[in-house]
Amino acid sequence: MKFNIIKKEIVTSTNDILKDNSEIFESGTVLTAKQQTNGRGRMGRKFYSPPSGLYFSILLKDIKSNPTALTVMAAVAVMKGIYDTFGIKTQVKWVNDIFYEGKKICGILTEGAFQGNRLRYAVIGAGINVSTEYFPEELKNIAGSLNESIENSDRLLQNILENFNKEFQRIEKKEYLEFYKENCLTLNRNVELLLQDENYLCGFAFDIDEDARLIVKTENGEIKKIFFGEAKII
Ligand code: BTN
Repeated sequence: MKFNIIKKEIVTSTNDILKDNSEIFESGTVLTAKQQTNGRGRMGRKFYSPPSGLYFSILLKDIKSNPTALTVMAAVAVMKGIYDTFGIKTQVKWVNDIFYEGKKICGILTEGAFQGNRLRYAVIGAGINVSTEYFPEELKNIAGSLNESIENSDRLLQNILENFNKEFQRIEKKEYLEFYKENCLTLNRNVELLLQDENYLCGFAFDIDEDARLIVKTENGEIKKIFFGEAKII
């Protein structure tokens, strides 16, 4: 895939800009910003985006994949990109949170519009806390940082995109799943899942299937396959 990288200093949200201009921009457009004024996370949350992070989104058009699988593939590219740049090993909490030393250092948000069973477009956005030292009160116990120099952001982005491209070229083989599962904090753990309909489900997370769904055995022995949700390890 050929990436066309657009660099901005400050934007509302790199996801929103690519979504709003998805007809104009070509597939492979990457928008990166040093700061976001309206960074968004999953479940309608805000994503804290000070100038000490790397924020970027990738636009893909007309692809046969599901948003959860794209998030998983992007998480693998981010983890590998961080390792290639800084030699730091990170882990992932299904489905979109990257952790380092017990704290969340990156979130991924994939949004898209379907046309039949294909995605007319998908926007995959990631925010990585590269050198953030201070977080607002409500985040300070859960959010962390790579504690690396922000000067390395360009190299980090380059390494993430290279890894993303490698996985994307062989997307049908789903090789990224193996790396994801090996580095997943949620597997073989008891979890409490906040589902899209705001209900909770508790159980033992024991696998992730080919479509990137988390497979959970509930307390009464039922097997559930979860596409959307937020996992809390208990
Ligand atoms: C989450 O943790 O819930 C997902 C966070 C995703 C944040 C990234 S930063 C770049 C892109 N633009 C946004 O507004 N959100 C994503």
